[in-house]
Amino acid sequence: MTAFAPPGDGPARDRVAAAYRWYAEMEAARSSPLFAAYCRAVAHERWLVARLAELPPAKWQPNLLIAAVRFLYGTPPTADAFLEITHGHWDAVAGVVMTRSTQTNEPARCATLLPLLARLPGPLALLEVGASAGLCLLPDRYSYDYGRATVAPSRPTGVTAPRFVCAADEATPLPAGNLTVAWRHGLDLHPVDLHDDAGQRWLEALVWPGQTSRLVGLRAALEVARRDPPTVTRGDLRRDLLRVAAGAPADATLVVFHTAVLAYVSDPDERAAFADAVAALGARWVANERPSVIPGVPDRLARDERHRTDFLLCLDGQPVAWTDGHGAAIRWLPDPAGSG
Ligand SMILES: C[S@@+](CC[C@H](N)C(=O)[O-])C[C@H]1O[C@@H](n2cnc3c(N)ncnc32)[C@H](O)[C@@H]1O
Repeated sequence: MTAFAPPGDGPARDRVAAAYRWYAEMEAARSSPLFAAYCRAVAHERWLVARLAELPPAKWQPNLLIAAVRFLYGTPPTADAFLEITHGHWDAVAGVVMTRSTQTNEPARCATLLPLLARLPGPLALLEVGASAGLCLLPDRYSYDYGRATVAPSRPTGVTAPRFVCAADEATPLPAGNLTVAWRHGLDLHPVDLHDDAGQRWLEALVWPGQTSRLVGLRAALEVARRDPPTVTRGDLRRDLLRVAAGAPADATLVVFHTAVLAYVSDPDERAAFADAVAALGARWVANERPSVIPGVPDRLARDERHRTDFLLCLDGQPVAWTDGHGAAIRWLPDPAGSG
């Protein structure tokens, strides 16, 4: 499994260093300066680059190394401290890198899903593939602040709901209320156990240093989910979709959705087969992913849009909105074909 494509074809060490340099500038520089500093430091540290190059390419991922160090030893205050800890504890760090994978569960993504889900006829039967701990299966339990409108939970759980702030442009149709969810079920290769302390610490370690509001939102969503845990079944979206969908009630609109998942399915034919399987079910298909991995979508976009790092929100394969990858913003497209 990989959501990470190491750049180039050259020697492994050069590719590792290039990947960390790229990640520092393109992914992290704006949103977490400390994360970017760790990445730059790794790229310059020959010993560490050589150790990483000995691992399978899927394990070179900056997110994975940095989360492993923070999971074991907390957040090093500087890039030098990061290198020192990693050097001094390489066997333990490599052990976590090899046994875990990036499973960032970002409940704030519900803020960008909600405007689209609310346009579908309710009640909804939500089936999330690549659900991690299942926090995105609970959009009706959270509250949202879109600036010009707020939305409260329709199913409060007795604990304070997280409030996700999302900058929605004027074109985004904001719902008057939250969803009615009749059924919810997740599918994941490695479901994260909500009651396992290590699982929760791993999810927290995957939030980049300095992103305090993301961490606060994650912890609040975990509290909500522990009150009434969504069911997440172990399985593979390439094989187990029909088995899980069979449990959905017939009198609700079945919505198969995924956010930040399809990049882990590296074979485009397998991604296309998944899209065909959703269509064959007669379900609505909501994808919130980088555009390059959504089957059938890149051809519909202008060349310069195909490799954007924003997410594209699609309904049944039709682009509906550009969204921030962590749920902080949504920009509705002028002609959201098929979004009703
Ligand atoms: C980056 S996380 C995203 C989690 C959640 N969708 C979110 O947006 O917060 C990707 C998840 O997809 C899961 N995954 C990757 N490949 C999968 C597959 N073939 N079948 C099911 N789950 C998969 C991983 O285990 C991981 O939990």
